[in-house]
Amino acid sequence: MSGFLGSAASAAGIRLRMAGAALGAAGRLAVRGARAYGGAEGRAARIAALLGTTENQRRIFALLRATSPNLVLSRRLIAAYENTGTVIVTRHADVTEVLERESDFAVVYEPKMRAITAGENFFLGMQDSAAYTRDVSNMRLAVRRTDLPDVVVPYVAREAAAIVAASRGRIDVPATLTLPVLTGLVGAYFGTPGPSATEMAQWTTRMFWYLFVDLAGEEAVSRPALDAAAACRAYLDEAIAERKAAPAGTDDVLARCLALQAAGAPGMDDLRIRNNLIGLLIGLVPTLSKASVKALDTLLDRPDALAAAQRAAREDDDAALARVLWEALRFDPVNPFIYRRAVRDTMIARGTLRARMVPQGAMVLAANLSAMFDPIALDQPETFRADRPAHAYILWGYGMHTCFGAHINQAVIPQLLKPLLRCQGLRRTGPVDGAGTPFPVHFPVAFDSI
Ligand code: HEM
Repeated sequence: MSGFLGSAASAAGIRLRMAGAALGAAGRLAVRGARAYGGAEGRAARIAALLGTTENQRRIFALLRATSPNLVLSRRLIAAYENTGTVIVTRHADVTEVLERESDFAVVYEPKMRAITAGENFFLGMQDSAAYTRDVSNMRLAVRRTDLPDVVVPYVAREAAAIVAASRGRIDVPATLTLPVLTGLVGAYFGTPGPSATEMAQWTTRMFWYLFVDLAGEEAVSRPALDAAAACRAYLDEAIAERKAAPAGTDDVLARCLALQAAGAPGMDDLRIRNNLIGLLIGLVPTLSKASVKALDTLLDRPDALAAAQRAAREDDDAALARVLWEALRFDPVNPFIYRRAVRDTMIARGTLRARMVPQGAMVLAANLSAMFDPIALDQPETFRADRPAHAYILWGYGMHTCFGAHINQAVIPQLLKPLLRCQGLRRTGPVDGAGTPFPVHFPVAFDSI
């Protein structure tokens, strides 16, 4: 009985704090919203800018978690994919429920994946099926976890350190550190460097923007992305043909794909190898660069967290460094939500007071940013703490489609940032600038000594 009373008191306390956080968020949003609304000229842009910051998104989610945890709207907020309305899901338990129920909440990317490959679907665009299992399994044989200590970590650590050492105390993080190292990794590890590092970065970024970020379905995004896709396909077709004609004798991802083909593995003809490679390259380059920039930007706003990261970097304690970086990304993840479409009318959070019927065809925004601030799932979510358990983080998806590169992310992001974090007097000298894109193009930082 005392156990029950204790649990009831704790549950009531958490909900009270949730209501308090919602009130605080509402107050701050009201002030900022009033400022954004005032004066008709440029109002839409000001409101879009307000909603675009992760800090304000966190406030909106705090409000929703307390008042409408599963918000059903008849309005279509996403135009890029066919749908009948929108459901915003904000509590941790419901976000994971949506992403676990793959047969009820399906991925929507197939038409855009087919546009990128000029034909076939890619496994992120597939529901649970024989083709999904075949393609993921093949690519797991080519991209192995044992490559992390053997190839990936040494490469990234060496290249990042060399760039920082040669930088004379000033670095434009995406332009001179993260993107050059990542495109270099694509060359060294995948065996497909592209005609140039710049083109590889540009192609993958444009395609990622079109597939996952452009929710409005704008032609200004799709046209350059489809041009990039055509160029990338032609390059990879040629790289595969050349490698088959004259094997390089290297043990890279392309060589392993061709070895699987030679062994008669199903689903590994030239076209499918090319399409699988496109999918992985899109997943790798822009995301890892953006995540690294966001983590560093978040740390530079928090002196204690920055000091902890710098201590871990100087002591070469990769596990401790990673814990600080994941916590930084919790405050500003690469994607604030993951979207799915309801295959049928179906209930979420069944048996609770927040249960809602999701209509067939509705786009369901499973807000991982919100889930990572849900006080029912996390202790003191508003506090920066590097001692959280792994399950507190939904940084790269959840359920069947959890990021194929999750272990690569965990290995690469700390190595990309470690040489910079070791430096004395590290500071930003300008803001993160996307140059009109949703990806960091410039982020100037400086340091006094290595
Ligand atoms: C920080 C970097 C990264 C972030 C934030 C990220 C994020 C994500 C997210 C959120 C998903 C789930 C999408 C969904 O369920 O709709 C996902 C899936 C995926 N990611 Fe990543 N990703 C990153 C790095 C990578 C890398 C390095 C690769 C390639 C090596 C990659 C390849 C993929 C693939 C192929 C999937 C689909 C998995 C499946 O359908 O089973 N990603 N990623």
